[in-house]
Amino acid sequence: MRIAEVRDSKEGAEVSFRAIVLRKKGNYRYRVFDRTGEIWIDSDLPLSEGVPYEFFGRYKGGVVVIEKAERLEEFDLKDFLPFSDSIEEDERRFWHLVDSISDPFLREFVRFVFEPIWEDFRKAVAAKKYHHAYVGGLLEHTANVGEIVANVVPLYARWGIRSDLALAGALFHDVGKIWELKIYPKFEYDEEYGKLGHIFLGATLIREKGREFGLPMEMTRDLAHIILAHHGDYSRGSPVTPKIPEALLVHLADNLDAQMNHVLRSEENA
Ligand SMILES: [Fe+2]
Ligand SMILES: [Fe+2]
Repeated sequence: MRIAEVRDSKEGAEVSFRAIVLRKKGNYRYRVFDRTGEIWIDSDLPLSEGVPYEFFGRYKGGVVVIEKAERLEEFDLKDFLPFSDSIEEDERRFWHLVDSISDPFLREFVRFVFEPIWEDFRKAVAAKKYHHAYVGGLLEHTANVGEIVANVVPLYARWGIRSDLALAGALFHDVGKIWELKIYPKFEYDEEYGKLGHIFLGATLIREKGREFGLPMEMTRDLAHIILAHHGDYSRGSPVTPKIPEALLVHLADNLDAQMNHVLRSEENA
């Protein structure tokens, strides 16, 4: 059973379900969740936070009274967290965008940054709730922002927009989220990295990696600027407003994709 079904059970009904323990309250009450929701359980068996169990018990007064709990040694995270169903396709789209960067040095730099963090990046979420809040959501969002930028830059080519810079900036803009938001056991702001935020984390990563790689100072600075300015203004968490057209474009593309996902997903769930 899923938690959504457990919650619809009749008073006194026998229930069994798999869930991860989120937190403990008092001596015997626990909050547990799966991908369909959360519920309170009462258990006098000792349970550990962040661990998945198979529970057997009875539904009484909105709470499940647990009779037996078996720790799951093998489990699929898909049972507990929402997952994107397009991770492989989005990976392909992402690397295709990287390949389309025409400056070989910048293209190499993008690979240099992403390759060591790829496993974390492909599984990351873009937000706790607002948009792309599922495993693989950050990858999907980043590929979308990259594609929006790649499609828009030709319109402004004759005005001298730097398409490679805009595209690399789009791919980097939210990279700090792999540290800011943790996915396990639940989508939550990381206690330590959450204090710094993804804008600072992303800009710092690019400065450090830029130095290590030998990227020209101006290029490193402009990429860091795109990251710093991508929320558009101070009230939304950007320490600087976009000061180059490439930064404005990434900001607008980011906003477009986040809002579209938010609206379309809420319609889907309505
Ligand atoms: Fe962001
Ligand atoms: Fe974003």
